[in-house]
Amino acid sequence: MINTFKLFAATILLVCSLSGFAQTSDPHSFANFDQVNVSHIDLNLNVDFNKKQLTGSATLSLKWLDKTTNSLVLDTRDLTIKSINSGGKTLAYKLHKADPNLGSALVIDIANGTDKVTIAYSTSPNASGLQWLSPEQTTEKKHPFLFSQAQAIHARSFIPLQDSPTVRVTYAATITTPKELVAVMSANNDASAPRNGIYHFKMPQAIPSYLIAIAVGDLQFQAIGKDTGVYAEPSVLASAVNEFSDTQAMLDITEKMYGAYPWERYDLLILPSSFPFGGMENPRLSFITPTVIAGDKSLVSLIAHELAHSWSGNTVTNSSWRDLWLNEGFTTYLTYRIMEVIYGTSRFDMEALLGYQDLQADLAVLKKDDQRLTIDLTGRDPDDVFSNIPYEKGALFIREIEQQVGRANFDEFLMAYFEHFKFQSIDTETFLAYIQKHLITPYHLDLDRIKQWIYTPGLPKNHPIPKSDAFTIVDQNRMSWLNGNVKATQLDVKEWTVHQWLHFLNNLPDQLSAAQLVELDSAFKLTQSTNNEIAHSWLVLVVKNDYQPAFERLETYLISIGRNKLVKPLYRELAKTSKGKKFGKRVFNIAKPGYHPLTVKANEGFFN
Ligand code: BES
Ligand code: ZN
Repeated sequence: MINTFKLFAATILLVCSLSGFAQTSDPHSFANFDQVNVSHIDLNLNVDFNKKQLTGSATLSLKWLDKTTNSLVLDTRDLTIKSINSGGKTLAYKLHKADPNLGSALVIDIANGTDKVTIAYSTSPNASGLQWLSPEQTTEKKHPFLFSQAQAIHARSFIPLQDSPTVRVTYAATITTPKELVAVMSANNDASAPRNGIYHFKMPQAIPSYLIAIAVGDLQFQAIGKDTGVYAEPSVLASAVNEFSDTQAMLDITEKMYGAYPWERYDLLILPSSFPFGGMENPRLSFITPTVIAGDKSLVSLIAHELAHSWSGNTVTNSSWRDLWLNEGFTTYLTYRIMEVIYGTSRFDMEALLGYQDLQADLAVLKKDDQRLTIDLTGRDPDDVFSNIPYEKGALFIREIEQQVGRANFDEFLMAYFEHFKFQSIDTETFLAYIQKHLITPYHLDLDRIKQWIYTPGLPKNHPIPKSDAFTIVDQNRMSWLNGNVKATQLDVKEWTVHQWLHFLNNLPDQLSAAQLVELDSAFKLTQSTNNEIAHSWLVLVVKNDYQPAFERLETYLISIGRNKLVKPLYRELAKTSKGKKFGKRVFNIAKPGYHPLTVKANEGFFN
């Protein structure tokens, strides 16, 4: 056994030395950040919509941890490097051959102790972390739009840097844009800055690279509360401000429960509909999909989620993508708690149970190895491993601890935890050592069970199961309809919330008769639903049952929305039959030019 292990370790060492890069704790970065640390970045970039390029320079400030090394290794992907300078001198460098997941290591020859280095570069029109939208792809259809999405490892496609969440930087930026457009960043946005094509930013708190973000478009701003507001295209602004009018209240109560908000402002940026995620917690400015503007605040848990990341994720950060559950599990737990305070316990119960159902659905299909909270991602692209595990299994684990120690004690613990690791990046083992002292020992928790939650697949026996009375009524109605006891029009759905509808639809049998589908659709106008989540759940059934009357709606839905979570399950279902595959391939090809690179990559495999 020992010999096998030694052999294994020796092989790893050999592989690392062959590739020429020292191995650090982060398998998704080439950077030698354990030898030299980038502590600040000055960006000077021009936004060229014609060429779909950012062009300019990044000046990196360096802190040398190792006194002997004379090289700086950075992460890049598809960047064109023009020159590298320091103190007026040109430096030699080598841009290595690209790894398909990680991009190209940029190795710069630089004297130990050098304090700054400037890299002149431009991005590729296909940069994986940027999407360049033509005017037609925006809501307003008058001006082009640009936005970035850096998590997990795409910052390197628009800035040469140490692209690991272990490393934290402050940054400043000067961004030049066409005069009629506005630039915003994950920094100190000034809503009253003149629209003159030159914008200056500072992010004085040290953040990991995946939180560096930029967007440029025809944006307007409106305040929600004293620290909160919305940036959006003009015609979206009013509806977004209405939908998200509770954002200030969310911020206020989260501060009360978990400690002072350390980022000054909290604004939302509403992206065009091709934004590939629901939301992204870019500090001071969460990026938000417009698909959650439902008109009734039914989908605003997304805002609670991105806001909660201001504590879990942006303040205390996972140090590698293996530890993503530290970001997403805590955030999911906090989301439910924030939603409960603002919208009541019934909403908390429903959302927690829907989350649990999503988790069960994933557990039913995921490989055992991918059911762990800490997943070894060496050699894999973090984008390919995305699931509900870090989110909902993480939140359930935290909920169990909360139940064992009591809510008041647990809230006190959380506040201290966020304070203790403020502006630090930590791994699961650092978290474990901390809870050993603050929870496990004082409350006599079972360490083996905690390790089982973290390191083993599936869920431990007798884990907490969310319950919702509001869903019990839905189950009874669904049952009597399926049994043929009542007609759909006789179901008592007048008071049902969006969550009850989701529970109703998501738990129907996979196979329904044509008559049943027609009956549901004519009673509840599901094909016409303007709630994107309800439409999604219905369309999944539509595909599973080849319900043709809704296929036109399915096509429009897939073409007009680029949020991967809403389109991928539909393409996946379509790809299961040859008829569906034909339809799916045709629609995917129409939609593709409007999709973000990430949504393209996540779905193209279904139709090859
Ligand atoms: N930080 C994530 C998005 C993300 C995670 C991007 C991992 C890349 C890699 C964001 O906070 C998030 O979780 N978004 C969810 C929100 C939902 C769970 C409320 C989304 O986009 O669906
Ligand atoms: Zn999240």
